[in-house]
Amino acid sequence: MSAIEKLFSFEGKVIIITGAAGAIGSAAGHLFASLGANVVISDLNEEGAKQVAAAIEKESGKKTLGIKTDATNEADLEKLVKATLDTFGKISGLINNVGWGANTPIWGSDTDKMVKSYLLNTVGAYNLTKLCMPHLEKEPNASVVFSGSMVGVTPSPEFIEYSTAKAGLMNMVRSMAVVSGPKVRFNTVLIGSVDNGDSTLAAGYTPEMLKALSDMFVMKRRGAPIEIAYGMMFLMSDAAQWITGIDLRIDGGGTYKSKMPTKKD
Ligand SMILES: NC(=O)c1ccc[n+]([C@@H]2O[C@H](COP(=O)([O-])OP(=O)(O)OC[C@H]3O[C@@H](n4cnc5c(N)ncnc54)[C@H](O)[C@@H]3O)[C@@H](O)[C@H]2O)c1
Repeated sequence: MSAIEKLFSFEGKVIIITGAAGAIGSAAGHLFASLGANVVISDLNEEGAKQVAAAIEKESGKKTLGIKTDATNEADLEKLVKATLDTFGKISGLINNVGWGANTPIWGSDTDKMVKSYLLNTVGAYNLTKLCMPHLEKEPNASVVFSGSMVGVTPSPEFIEYSTAKAGLMNMVRSMAVVSGPKVRFNTVLIGSVDNGDSTLAAGYTPEMLKALSDMFVMKRRGAPIEIAYGMMFLMSDAAQWITGIDLRIDGGGTYKSKMPTKKD
């Protein structure tokens, strides 16, 4: 194995991924397994989790667990940690990837919707990380990566519940990072619009809105799930051993496109 291959080898690692029957989580599962990890595919969608786990196991030859978990249910999270330890004996990394948010007009939300979004996008990640910490602390270069969103750093009045919850997630991750070094590293992948099939449409985007979004990006297209997984891979790898508490933007240059008018505008 070359030096660079060693940096990106996950042989002997056990990585839990939440929301892993979905687009980005499943791409991450395939990628980490292809690099030698045993991955635990957890999702509310039991059939989806089991199908993704079976496909990964077939493709990589690595033993893979597919398990039903409601990330907002603490008893389920405890079961997830127990099943991982019973099967693999350790937890070396965690990807708190689960999240979702519906398109809501700014004054169209209420307590119930705001709290539900916070539970799904932020609190679930807190609870699972807390349960994993005693196990992560025993492992070399242990790392936790969170799926953040660009809507958590830019004003997003049309996704008020989701964007508020994702903004909270980011600062939670930084707080975890400052108290957990040097044993465990914590980083967020700040995700721009990624093609996840019907899921974005279900959140309230129309195909016309998605086309307009793509045109706004410097890279002129939405991202592919694997392009986010590559960022997660870097943050979890030995190449990132001195990186903690950062937000890695993977957004097709969406944020930094100049808004200044030019002569041709
Ligand atoms: N796709 C994008 O454009 C985009 C942009 C920014 C951030 N993100 C974030 O990336 C992450 C993954 O997004 P994706 O595009 O792969 O989404 P996706 O909709 O394809 O997958 C999300 C998965 O989460 C699962 N899920 C929903 N509620 C759950 C619960 N209570 N417990 C456990 N699992 C649950 C769903 O069954 C689904 O499989 C999310 O946190 C999302 O907010 C995505």
